[in-house]
Amino acid sequence: MSRRKLIVGNWKMNGLLAQIGEIEAIDRLAQEKPKVEVGLCVPATLIHAASGVARSAFIGGQDCHMKDSGAHTGCLSAAMLKEAGAKTVIAGHSERRTDQHETSADVAAKAVAAHQAGLNVILCVGETEAERDAGNAEAVVSEQLLDSLPQNAAAAWLSIAYEPIWAIGTGRTPTMEEVDRMHRALREALRSRIGADADNMRILYGGSMNGANAGDLLAIADVDGGLVGGASLTAEKFAPIIEAASAAG
Ligand code: PGA
Repeated sequence: MSRRKLIVGNWKMNGLLAQIGEIEAIDRLAQEKPKVEVGLCVPATLIHAASGVARSAFIGGQDCHMKDSGAHTGCLSAAMLKEAGAKTVIAGHSERRTDQHETSADVAAKAVAAHQAGLNVILCVGETEAERDAGNAEAVVSEQLLDSLPQNAAAAWLSIAYEPIWAIGTGRTPTMEEVDRMHRALREALRSRIGADADNMRILYGGSMNGANAGDLLAIADVDGGLVGGASLTAEKFAPIIEAASAAG
C-alpha cells in the first residue's frame, strides 16, 4: 500500500506577518522534496498572506465552526477559511477538545462542514497519560476515532492524526512499539467503518516529533506522516522532518 507521506506543521497561536519569510523557506523545503506532501496550518490571520507565498506547500487552518454562518461571535466558517486560501483544516485537536470543550460529535460535525466547503480535514485523536497508564490506550483512542469520524469519511479528503496528549509539547514520545500498535489499531478501527478505503487513509503521528525522532517514527509501516507543532515553527527545525519523510516515503 503506497500512501504519500504527509507532513503538516501546526503553528497553533504562533506567527505574525513578520514570519512570512519562514513560510517561504518552508515552502522551498516542500519544493525540494516533491515525494512528500507538506502543509502548514497557520493562525487564521495568516492564511491569506501565507497562501499568497506558498507554491508547493498547502496552507491550512486549525479549526472551523460546524455552521455555515450565523450569530457565533469570533468563530470562522469553513468557507471563510477556504476563501482566505486554506486547503485543509485541523479538526478536534486535543487543545481544542480541552480548552473549548469540543466533543467528538462536534468534531465530526466540523469535519462534515469542512468537506462541504471543499476543505480537506486532519482529524485528531489521542489519549491522556492516565488512559495510557491504565493500559487501554488503543481501545480508548479507537473509540474516540469512531465517535469523531463523519459518516461520509473518505481517504480522498480526510486524514487522521494520532496525538497522545501527554506527548504534545513535552519532548516525550511513546515507544516505537506503542506507536506501531496504536496505528495498527486505528487502521483496524477505520476498516470496520469505511472498509477497504482504510488502506488509503493516512494516519499521522503527532506529539514532540522532531528532527531526531522523525526517521524512526516515519519508518513504522502504518505511520503515514506527522503533525508537527514546535518543530514546524522554523524551516531549520522542520527541514530534517521533511527530509526523513522523503527518505521513508
Ligand atoms: P508538538 O505539537 O509537536 O509541539 O508536540 C504537536 C501538535 O500538537 O500538533
